[in-house]
Amino acid sequence: MAFVRSYLLVRYKNSVLAQRFFSSMSDKRGLVLGVYSSEGQDDVKFTKFAQKYNESTAGKLLEQIKICGPIKGGQARIYWNLGKYPAVAVAGLGDASKWDELDEINGAKENIRIAASAGLKALASCKIGHIEVEDFEDAHAAAEGALLSNYKFQVYKNKEKQTQLPDVSLAESADGREQWAKGATLANAQNWARVLMETPANLMTPTIFSDNVKAKMASVNVEVQVHDEGWAKEMKMGSFLSVTNGTKEPAKFLEITYKGDGSDESCIALVGKGVTFDSGGISLKPSASMDQMRADMGGAANVAATIYALAQLKAPVFVKGFIPLCENMPSGTATKPGDVVYAMNGKSICVDNTDAEGRLILADALCYASTFKPKFILDIATLTGAIKVALGDCVAGVFSTSNTLWTQIHQAGSESGDRVWRMPLFKHYSEQMCDHNGYDLNNLGKGKGGGSCTAAAFLREFVPKETPWLHVDIAGVMGDCSDQSYTGAKGMTGRPMRTLVEFIAKASP
Ligand code: BES
Ligand code: MN
Ligand code: ZN
Repeated sequence: MAFVRSYLLVRYKNSVLAQRFFSSMSDKRGLVLGVYSSEGQDDVKFTKFAQKYNESTAGKLLEQIKICGPIKGGQARIYWNLGKYPAVAVAGLGDASKWDELDEINGAKENIRIAASAGLKALASCKIGHIEVEDFEDAHAAAEGALLSNYKFQVYKNKEKQTQLPDVSLAESADGREQWAKGATLANAQNWARVLMETPANLMTPTIFSDNVKAKMASVNVEVQVHDEGWAKEMKMGSFLSVTNGTKEPAKFLEITYKGDGSDESCIALVGKGVTFDSGGISLKPSASMDQMRADMGGAANVAATIYALAQLKAPVFVKGFIPLCENMPSGTATKPGDVVYAMNGKSICVDNTDAEGRLILADALCYASTFKPKFILDIATLTGAIKVALGDCVAGVFSTSNTLWTQIHQAGSESGDRVWRMPLFKHYSEQMCDHNGYDLNNLGKGKGGGSCTAAAFLREFVPKETPWLHVDIAGVMGDCSDQSYTGAKGMTGRPMRTLVEFIAKASP
C-alpha cells in the first residue's frame, strides 16, 4: 500500500513538473506597473497605481527595485511573489522631457506606449498567460503600447510551433476603462492592417482582400460595395485598368461607406492604393526584397482599418473609402513602357515606367471619389521609394493643398505617436509631369530627384481645384521600422492608421 502511495506521489510530482516545464503559457497572472526616472536621479517615482501597489506590499516592491537602482525608460524588470500578482513587471517611463519641441510628439503618451510594451514583453517572455496593465494615468496610450506589441504574424506556421500570446487587459482596479477600450480598438484595427499587409500576395489577392474587408465590416455599420473590372470600364478608368493588364488575377474596386452622423452632409473621402503585388510590370523590379511588394496595398489596409475603427468607435462622421485593387505583373498582355492611356477625367497619360503604377490606379480613384463632392480627399499610398530616402522609416510624408488640414493631421500625429512631415507641392514639380508635346501627363518626372514630390504633383492633376486634398506617402513606414519599440523592428506596420483616425474624428476643413 505504502509502495502504491509513493508511486502515485512520484507520478503526480512528475506530471506537475512536466506541466511546469513543457506547457507553453502558464495561467499565472502578471501585472505591468510604471515608474518614472529622471536623468542622473536615483529616486524611484511610481505612477499613482504603482504607488498603491507598493503600499499593498508594505513597501517591499520599492525595496526590491532599489537593490539595483532606477529602471530606465523603455526597460522592465520582473519581481516575483510581491503582492496579489505572482509576477509584477515594473516598466520605466523615463522622462517626458527627453522629447523636445523638435521631436513634435506628445512625449508623455509615447513614453507610456513604450513602457506598457516593455512590461508586456518581459512578462510574455516568461510565459505569463494573463497580463494586466495598469492605467499609467492614460489608459488609451497604455492599451496601444501593450496591444500593438502583443502581435505576431505566424498563421502559416505549424500550430504546435506557434508562440502562444498572452491575453491582455486593463488591471482590475485601474481607472480609465473607457479610454483603454478606445486604445484597444485602435491597436486591434492597426494589427488587422498589419495582417493584411504581411499576408503573402498569393493569399491576399484583390478578391481575397475584398472578401476580408466585407467579412470584417459585417459586424459594424459599414457598407462595402465590390466593383469589378466591367464596372471600371464603364467608368472609363483606363489608367487603373492599364495596371492590371499583365495579370490573370481580377482587379476590384472597393467603395466603403460609413455614415456615422446621420446627416446628409458631404463625405470625407479616403483613397488607398491597393496593389496586392508590385513586381514593377514590364519595368521589372530587381529580385532582392521584391517580396516586400506584397505590402504595396498598405494604403488600402490603412483606409479599411481606419473606417473599421471609426465605425467601432461610433465616431459621428461620414466617411467613404475608395480602394482600387490589382496586381502589377509583366506578361504578354501587360502595358508597355511608352503606352498612352486615358484616365476617367479624360486626361491622357504616357506610361513611361510601368513601375510607377500607384499613381495610375490612384488617378482614377481620385476622379471617382471627386464625383461625390467630398469635404476633402485624403489619399494614402506606399507610393515612392524616394520618400524613404528623404525621411527614413520613422515618419510619413504629407502633401496638402490645405494649411488647415495639414495643421490638423500634424497635431493628430503628435498625439498618436505616429508622426507626419510636410512635403512641397511646388509648381516646379507639376511642370515636370505636365509639360509634354504628345500627351497630357507622363507618369515619370522629367528632372532628377524629388521622386515623391513629382508623384504628388501627378496625383494633384486628378483632384478638382476646389477640393481640399492631402496625399500621404507611407512607403518609408511600410515595414521594418526602427523607431517604435511597440510596433517592433520587423514586419509590416499598418502605420500611420491611428493618426488617420485621430485626424478624421476631429477634422474641420
Ligand atoms: N510600390 C513602389 C514604391 C515602394 C518602394 C514602396 C519601396 C515601398 C517600398 C512604387 O510603385 C514604385 O515602384 N515606385 C517607383 C517609382 C519610380 C518608377 C518613378 C520607385 O519608387 O522606385
Ligand atoms: Mn511600382
Ligand atoms: Zn507600387
